[in-house]
Amino acid sequence: MAMKLSSNIKVAVLVSGSGSNLQAIIDASKNDRDFGAEVVLVISNREKAYGLKRAELENIDHFCIKDNEEVLKKLKEYEIDLVVLAGYLKIIPESIIDEFPNRIINIHPSLIPSFCGMGYYGLKVHEAAIERGVKVSGCTTHFVNKMADAGPIILQKVVDVDFSYDADRLQQEILKEEHKILPESIKLFAHGKLEVVGNRVKIRSNNWCVH
Ligand code: GRF
Repeated sequence: MAMKLSSNIKVAVLVSGSGSNLQAIIDASKNDRDFGAEVVLVISNREKAYGLKRAELENIDHFCIKDNEEVLKKLKEYEIDLVVLAGYLKIIPESIIDEFPNRIINIHPSLIPSFCGMGYYGLKVHEAAIERGVKVSGCTTHFVNKMADAGPIILQKVVDVDFSYDADRLQQEILKEEHKILPESIKLFAHGKLEVVGNRVKIRSNNWCVH
């Protein structure tokens, strides 16, 4: 296994569902010796979230916590540097956003600003995209601010929408790209390559591929 850098940043991942994005982050941290980040804490608001099981299998501390202030306490207790929302279906309260300015990254399964904001989560995003007949969709990583899905965009990846796709298939195709851009965004953050300028993110030049 690759040796870890001693300067890895500490990441907490918040999940509500299957946690495939969580797994992609864990795999990147194990396979990329320059990743620069380590998942030290997983929190879910749902006891049955498979993301908690994934954390258990990887020997990562994990908790089911429903109360927002308890979540904040746990993030502080673990001295978390970066919070990642990976399919977390709960509104993040201002108290957490204030504590982690431009230090919370969310993944959204569309090209923001399309099909995002209140009510657009899970399969609903893809149903709306199919219904509208878009030729491309995709995924977006962004920093979290106080407006839903409106924070500074970090990375986006376009996915062609084949006429044969239904919402389930589109979700699967987009998930494959989520699993690349979310770890990539975390790596960029961990290496200090992301500079927030107003509502835009400048990515400092780097010597690895940005999707
Ligand atoms: C992903 O599509 C993510 O973009 C959305 O919820 C889904 C979570 O999938 N916010 P998983 O739990 O990471 O498998």
